[in-house]
Amino acid sequence: MSHRKPFFKFVILFFYIAFACKAGAQENTNPRAEWFTDSRFGMFIHWGIYSGIEGIWKGEKIRHDNDYAEWIYYRNRIDKQEYVKILDRFKWNDINPEEWVILAKKAGMKYVTFTAKHHDGFALWDSKVGNYDLGDHSKPKRDIVKELAEACAKHDMKLGLYYSHWVDWEHPHGWDHSREIYGLSEDKYDEYWQDKVIPQMRELLTNYGEISLIWFDMWIHHSEAVVTKKQLLQLKSLIRELQPGCLINSRLGLSIEEDSDIDYKTLLDNQLGESKENFPWQTPATVAHSWGFHAMENQWKSTSTLLNNLIGNVSLNGNMMLNIGPRANGEVPHEIAQRLNEMGQWLLVNGNSIYGAQAFDLDKNMHDWGNITCKKLNDGKTLVFLHVNNWPLNKQLPVSGIKTKPSKVYLLADKQKTALDFSFNTVLTNINLPEKQPDNYISTVVLAYDTYPITDANLVAKSTYGGYSLTPKNLSIPIHDSLIVDAQRYGTIPSYVEINERTGLKWRIYVERPMSFHADVSYNSQSKQNKGTISIHAANDKISEKIRPTGRVVGEPNSDWHIDSFNSHRIGRIDFPASGYYDININIAPTNGQSIDFQWLWLDEIKTD
Ligand code: GLC
Repeated sequence: MSHRKPFFKFVILFFYIAFACKAGAQENTNPRAEWFTDSRFGMFIHWGIYSGIEGIWKGEKIRHDNDYAEWIYYRNRIDKQEYVKILDRFKWNDINPEEWVILAKKAGMKYVTFTAKHHDGFALWDSKVGNYDLGDHSKPKRDIVKELAEACAKHDMKLGLYYSHWVDWEHPHGWDHSREIYGLSEDKYDEYWQDKVIPQMRELLTNYGEISLIWFDMWIHHSEAVVTKKQLLQLKSLIRELQPGCLINSRLGLSIEEDSDIDYKTLLDNQLGESKENFPWQTPATVAHSWGFHAMENQWKSTSTLLNNLIGNVSLNGNMMLNIGPRANGEVPHEIAQRLNEMGQWLLVNGNSIYGAQAFDLDKNMHDWGNITCKKLNDGKTLVFLHVNNWPLNKQLPVSGIKTKPSKVYLLADKQKTALDFSFNTVLTNINLPEKQPDNYISTVVLAYDTYPITDANLVAKSTYGGYSLTPKNLSIPIHDSLIVDAQRYGTIPSYVEINERTGLKWRIYVERPMSFHADVSYNSQSKQNKGTISIHAANDKISEKIRPTGRVVGEPNSDWHIDSFNSHRIGRIDFPASGYYDININIAPTNGQSIDFQWLWLDEIKTD
């Protein structure tokens, strides 16, 4: 089966997009949210009656492929009386919320957010509103919000509360999704709002000391939901009135764009940042999949994945709030506790590159060794943090795109800050790394500057292989994202741009001394009738070849999954006679309406020693 080609013509001239102005600082942080952007890393706690069900009800696993265990009441149609009886399973003597706070502290987290009321509508504090709360259903009486607030005060941890305002499966007039079938009038919904949401929020904001953030959970815009903008504004002003410093997230149902008084944007569950933002934002993230404890959980992310996710977000001015789903005896699953402790160990050494750090002016994914964050110091000096995943085999770390010479380079793990040797040429800093990486997961190299460094982002970085990978994503004149076809069929068909008529693409590189490279190109061309050419022009060299048919390949053995083959081969050699900037131009000229799917051009260093 052949893949379908997109229906557009690739005319580069029309799709020129200027680079957006790149600001390094997170300038749009309102004073209320400063602590939040400085903190970068927080703990989410999903704990409630569902924790005692553990994702399995009467022998049946939670229904639905997205098996969030905290949804089991709704998914498995559990009877309300039976649901609340689950509290009898709880090991109340063992449950100590202070342990969660201590774990957060050890993990290097700066705030915790607790599910005071999740979608099941059950309040985990001693609420005077209604009788569906811990005060009415625990013996001896417990108030987990109170206990957590006290533990947070004791351990100097900021406290946030999750409150499911839109969805409430318990209240006769709350939103429980089935309303879409049986209907719910706005008046009835407002009864729920005025009788439960507003007075409960008043309790939470009055009786538990400082609440640093309220985390609402409406992942669609209010215009699509029963809740009205008026109700949301009522809720927002209640918070502003009772706790003016308390942050409000965009899952209130009002976007940051619609209401600039929303303090930070919450991305989708486990959605990582993709581009730099100047307003505060955060990823709610799990260590595996479910938020509430699920006995059959098996998708554990590794510590280095979690660290990379955190670093990646900070490199785009974002936060990460990582979830623990304790059990009905308060215990945090070993897999979670272990990873959190390891993250804490890493942060003890490397925290300076995370706390109070922000995005740097170079593109994420520019370098093949990892992500960059930076910190502007009060005296105008700047620290740039390089997070290295794979310690390069030749112990050389190339950093492209910074035009200022660092005053010093050292390892963040080295308390003595022993200077590392480096060379600096115009826009390339090459660091001589020590033999051994200081961290088993991600090692941080610090570039110290006397001023904020000048950058040149319009450049392809030198890779740790010594070559340059020139792709449709790092052109010096970018093309619109929509022209880049994403990888398909589990990535056996790679990402490419389809070229139907003569097209020129251009990249910029910096070469630090006279050097020579082989030029290898990868593309797919199916037609034998295509008599067109590919030519590369760089420095004083021009090399070209006839477009070759690349044939087809079986994507999976023993299947009829036949796909177009993307083959790479060497076109020729390019000599760069001196150090300096060079444009690399490729000209692709297919004939007779035939197309070619261009994937990449690789400049492979010809080593002379
Ligand atoms: C979703 C789910 C919910 C979970 C939350 C965390 O909105 O409904 O169960 O609490 O995401 O981000």
